[in-house]
Amino acid sequence: MLSIQNLTVQFQVPGNGTVRAVDNVSLEIRKGETLGLVGESGCGKTTLGRAILRLNQPSAGRLSWSGGEQSENALRRRVQMIFQDPYSSLNPRMRIGDIVGEPLRALGLARGKDAAVRVEELMQQVGLDPRLQSSYPGQFSGGQRQRVGIARALAANPELIVADEPIAALDVSIQAQILNLLEKLRADLGLTYLFISHDLRAVRYLADRVAVMYLGEIVELASAEKLGRRPLMPYTKALLAAVPSLERPAERVILQGELPSPVNPPSGCRFRTRCPYAVPDCASTRPKLQEIEPGHMAACIRISQEQPDIEKLVA
Ligand SMILES: Nc1ncnc2c1ncn2[C@@H]1O[C@H](COP(=O)(O)OP(=O)(O)OP(=O)(O)O)[C@@H](O)[C@H]1O
Ligand SMILES: [Mg+2]
Repeated sequence: MLSIQNLTVQFQVPGNGTVRAVDNVSLEIRKGETLGLVGESGCGKTTLGRAILRLNQPSAGRLSWSGGEQSENALRRRVQMIFQDPYSSLNPRMRIGDIVGEPLRALGLARGKDAAVRVEELMQQVGLDPRLQSSYPGQFSGGQRQRVGIARALAANPELIVADEPIAALDVSIQAQILNLLEKLRADLGLTYLFISHDLRAVRYLADRVAVMYLGEIVELASAEKLGRRPLMPYTKALLAAVPSLERPAERVILQGELPSPVNPPSGCRFRTRCPYAVPDCASTRPKLQEIEPGHMAACIRISQEQPDIEKLVA
């Protein structure tokens, strides 16, 4: 559905140079899948998601949508975003019905009676009573507000939804309900998701494939099942080891040290300063994302098709 090719997004940091928040990322999003995107805070997940909606301007690379060249309006309809914080992402002075119907007006899709019918339908789809349309966000709980955010994202019939930490700000008791709703909508509407999270449990539950990001780069990409069962990268192993109550891979990698500054990332492999398996070459060689096993990509100079198990390299 969408091919992201060598995408780079950078920000100027006043008096402090440039952050390459997304650095030369290539990734395919396939129709009908949920692609999970995980990694520590600040690794560039939101920036990548916003670049897909063209809310962030890339400095290099391109996005190719299936179906060839399309008008700006057509592209705006194809992808919508669900935000982390259902409190700040809804205008407190707008009625719920107007919030949900806003994309219909903005994209010129429906007006008047047609828009009203569509808003009712959308509210039902996300499990909200349509009679609540004249309420304001302040009268809603966090879970209800996130349902409003989801209804708004669905209004224009998008194909792809970028869900940026959609449950992170919600009570634990509500999180499963929202995940179930997203899963149901995907099945019912044939949606494709880019699901951003640092909760690997949620990602493993929802995603078909998972991409792992570190300091602006994709370092591992595999099916959710494979990534959970047999991660290859030390960084992914560390992320998995940090999740409690998960069956763990045999090898436990504990993350050492601080996340380096993204303004001045390490040379070579960006993870080398925290990697228990780093060797001198890791400082000089920038690893490429390579297929190690069918459908399983990793970016590490010490991992290869011949030698996928990095722990076997260490005496
Ligand atoms: N508008 C901006 N101006 C300057 N720097 C930015 C801007 N947006 C993001 N950054 C920087 O880009 C990097 C990536 O940020 P981003 O928000 O994409 O990370 P993230 O993976 O979504 O983190 P989190 O898990 O905390 O949401 C960070 O170093 C961040 O400080
Ligand atoms: Mg983010």
